[in-house]
Amino acid sequence: MFYPDEIIEEVRLHNDVIDVIGSYVHLQKKGSSHFGLCPFHNEKTPSFSVSKDKQMYYCFGCGAGGNVFSFIMAYENYSFVESVKYLAERAHIELPEPEVSEEVKKAINYKQRLYDANRLAARYYYSLLRKDVGKRALAYFQDRKLSADIMKQFGLGYATQFRDDLYKYLQKQGFLDQELLDCGLLLEDKKHKGEYYDRFFNRVMFPIFDVHGKVIAFGGRVLGEGQPKYLNSPETKLFDKSRNLYGLNIARKSRESFMIVVEGYMDVIALHQAGFDNAIASLGTAFTSGHGQLIKRYVDEVVIAFDSDGAGVNAALRSIPILKSAGLIVRVLNMETAKDPDEFIQNQGVEAFQTLLHNATASFMFEIKQLSKRFDLTDPEYRTRFSEEVAKKLLSIEGKIERDNYLEAIVSQYHMSKSGLYELLAKHGNNVGIAQRTPQTMSRDMGGNSHKKREEGTVLAQKQLLAILVSNYKIFNGVKDIIQPEYFTHDTLQKVAYIVFDIYKTKQEIEPADIMRRFTQIEDQKMIANIFSEELKVENQQQLEKLLNDTIRNIKGDYLEQKRMNVNDPSGLMTLIQEKKALLNFYLHLDEIDRRD
Ligand code: GTP
Ligand code: MN
Repeated sequence: MFYPDEIIEEVRLHNDVIDVIGSYVHLQKKGSSHFGLCPFHNEKTPSFSVSKDKQMYYCFGCGAGGNVFSFIMAYENYSFVESVKYLAERAHIELPEPEVSEEVKKAINYKQRLYDANRLAARYYYSLLRKDVGKRALAYFQDRKLSADIMKQFGLGYATQFRDDLYKYLQKQGFLDQELLDCGLLLEDKKHKGEYYDRFFNRVMFPIFDVHGKVIAFGGRVLGEGQPKYLNSPETKLFDKSRNLYGLNIARKSRESFMIVVEGYMDVIALHQAGFDNAIASLGTAFTSGHGQLIKRYVDEVVIAFDSDGAGVNAALRSIPILKSAGLIVRVLNMETAKDPDEFIQNQGVEAFQTLLHNATASFMFEIKQLSKRFDLTDPEYRTRFSEEVAKKLLSIEGKIERDNYLEAIVSQYHMSKSGLYELLAKHGNNVGIAQRTPQTMSRDMGGNSHKKREEGTVLAQKQLLAILVSNYKIFNGVKDIIQPEYFTHDTLQKVAYIVFDIYKTKQEIEPADIMRRFTQIEDQKMIANIFSEELKVENQQQLEKLLNDTIRNIKGDYLEQKRMNVNDPSGLMTLIQEKKALLNFYLHLDEIDRRD
């Protein structure tokens, strides 16, 4: 690890979860916990809990959970070390020089080399645009009505038609072939191994920045016609397409409370030039949930302004659920009179675009509109089918008020019968169980082969047993001879079990933090938070007793079964049989252990 344990513990102790999370999420005290709307999934009633005693958070809706470090990691998209740095700074704790292994040092230095190469490349392309060789490229941008200011702000440049221009330049600056390959600037000659040439040549260049304004990749467009029209850097150590958005380095500072998402580089630039400094684009890929979460850090709403052609509409339909699942409100711009935002603004001006923004449709109504296009609504039969589809879609809306509002809007827009639609709702509601199913329960239901279910079952039992053990030393004491850490087959849970057994050797109480701090992966922390949040969903001693004995039987039974399959000597088999017998006869009565003291 990067920093000594004690320092990390000190940083954690000086960053109370309620303070830290409370600065991101509006929390309200309820009983022993604080509750708020979960920042990691879309919800309208709070199921996100933060516990001061346990110094952890847990969302009963989506299962996100962990300690103050994992919260910052998840929310700010930081690594563990970055989250430590961030929280140390917040608490004014000076961190020692990190204990970095040579290997890590090398990796950091190497990454820095790649950043340097990219920055120099961007500067090089930028300077060429202003030289004689760049005349045609400059004319191209001017032709597309870009001002000198906007070209500068976006660092636009030019790669000449010589295929080793940049290569030679960066070689002179001391960069190695491998470094330039690794930042995606060079390609190897397919016919002559060991010979390299520039990935980009004879193209106008768009540097791609990360949120901190560092150049991490490039897009290059041919001058005029030609294929491919746009060429992008491949994914590299610096460039993860699903975690970066074009224009975000600027848009994140915008004062607008929403972002405009468009398809192309030129759309972003045209919008920024027109004063819409909140425009962004994905980098030649479909929107991912990573993009959604990235946007959600800065705003709560997006307006999709993709190209008006079929591809643009389909891309919008695909992006809507992804962006919504990040908790964003999504609206869609209706731009039928132009191909894309760039063209629209050239032709109709800024104010007209502003009006389009105001009139952008709620994504739900956009989806209904696209749905309606699949049916000939003048034909009664198709009308009926359309109504059925509308009803099904309405059922996907969680809140009743929201559902009713959309129902009203659809009824009036498509001249449908309100009572008829309500009837369909009732009909389909019964079929699918109107009880709103969350994505989690749905995927769980669908993932249903029995093997997988069984596996999930034993993991659940392992979690439940750990939950009982961490909160009750007496019970632990009563079962520690029949249960061993190695029986926990799930990797993380087994580690937790070893830690629990270890702590109980010297103490009779376990604090969540004591376990959690030994894990730095978000997934692990989530699982541990989940264990501690179980808070035993049992209502009384009898239930607890039953759960305890059931889980022990389940876990140890599985363990012995596994062992039986691998054992082939008679004496081993005998021991197993005895152990099985012992398990069958084992039953821990809770009132007994209470009297044991
Ligand atoms: P122009 O206005 O013609 O410069 O392009 P545009 O900004 O309108 O982009 P277009 O709608 O053609 O494409 C949208 C985005 O898709 C571009 O910004 C690129 O990121 C990507 N793209 C377009 N054409 C290509 C291509 O040929 N190859 C790759 N890899 N990506 C492309
Ligand atoms: Mn265009």
